[in-house]
Amino acid sequence: MGTRRNPKALKRTRARISTSIMFSANTMNAALRISRYAAPTAVLAFSLSPVTVEAKESAKPDVSAVKKSIADLIEDDAERRGDGTSLTGTFVRLAWHCAGTYSKVDGSGGSNGARMRFDPEASWGANAGLGIARNALEAVKEKHPDISYADLYTLAGVVAVEEAGCSTLNSCPACGRGPKIPFRIGREDADSGETSPKECGLPDADKGSRKNTNSARMGFNDREIVALLGAHALGRCHTDRSGYWGPWTFAENTFSNEYFRLLVEERWSPKMSHNGKPWDGPDQFEDSTGKLMMLPSDMVLVQDPAFRKVVELYAKDENAFFRDFASAFSKLLELGVTFPSTKPWYQFW
Ligand code: HEM
Repeated sequence: MGTRRNPKALKRTRARISTSIMFSANTMNAALRISRYAAPTAVLAFSLSPVTVEAKESAKPDVSAVKKSIADLIEDDAERRGDGTSLTGTFVRLAWHCAGTYSKVDGSGGSNGARMRFDPEASWGANAGLGIARNALEAVKEKHPDISYADLYTLAGVVAVEEAGCSTLNSCPACGRGPKIPFRIGREDADSGETSPKECGLPDADKGSRKNTNSARMGFNDREIVALLGAHALGRCHTDRSGYWGPWTFAENTFSNEYFRLLVEERWSPKMSHNGKPWDGPDQFEDSTGKLMMLPSDMVLVQDPAFRKVVELYAKDENAFFRDFASAFSKLLELGVTFPSTKPWYQFW
């Protein structure tokens, strides 16, 4: 549970030098000594009484420590729930809904800004239930204040995928099965929802069409969008969030190609009843046991011939799915983000 300290992280260095000589050679030497340890971006501030030399480094979160805190949070929360559900799927959905607003037409949306903390995104129906994920992550933000919310929300999705398959909560025999997702920090937080898209452009679950996936708006090809939808191996639908009910697979905390295998191998029929009563929720599909579900927007993956080809490939080849998912998810989380290392020099100010 504890956080590891990054020995390199010199967040704030302060030297107090008591001297009767204001701004002496000693003071200059002290300032120079400090600046050797500070990052190039450090700001040296001098105050004269008492003489205080202060060097502030631009904040750098210890990403491994943040990842560990998120993993611990998922595990502790799952233990507390004790019903086989966890934050795993909700964290992945949070990351997706932060990033999936991106439009390559005008560059709007995307995970930069973490604008889901504000209206309009906070109250979009599509984001119902994601306050649970955002609130849970407050504990991590408190422990690691240097990470931006925008990096934290996306990193939570990355950790959830990477951990799904190798934590005790899954009782998974194949430890370490979640694919490693390339991830960079550098997203910045907005201070309002002013720059959010006016309309929620996230795909609708009740529409079974290729256009509804919005892959073209985000800039994904067929293979990438099908791989991304494989995230529905995790988590479940909640009647009090989306109105739909149930998980897609029998192991909702394990990242696997089960979603694709079930899509092609199961017989999916419209759900008619629930717990012995007529189903009065939105149209959805169920498997032969009635315990699993598919959304109309999932079914398009087997109805559209081009999508189906990719589904069949992933159903047979989990490694191919893991590889494609890792690269498409990483791309999704970076849509519209300009990272410091790729910023032209004039954007640093
Ligand atoms: C056509 C596109 C998509 C539609 C219409 C869609 C729709 C939905 C709906 C209705 C839910 C249920 C929410 C709830 O009741 O809690 C859900 C859950 C989820 N979605 Fe999607 N989704 C889409 C694409 C994606 C993508 C691209 C990802 C990730 C890369 C993703 C990851 C998830 C996860 C992990 C959950 C489970 C959430 C939980 O357990 O709390 N979805 N999705």
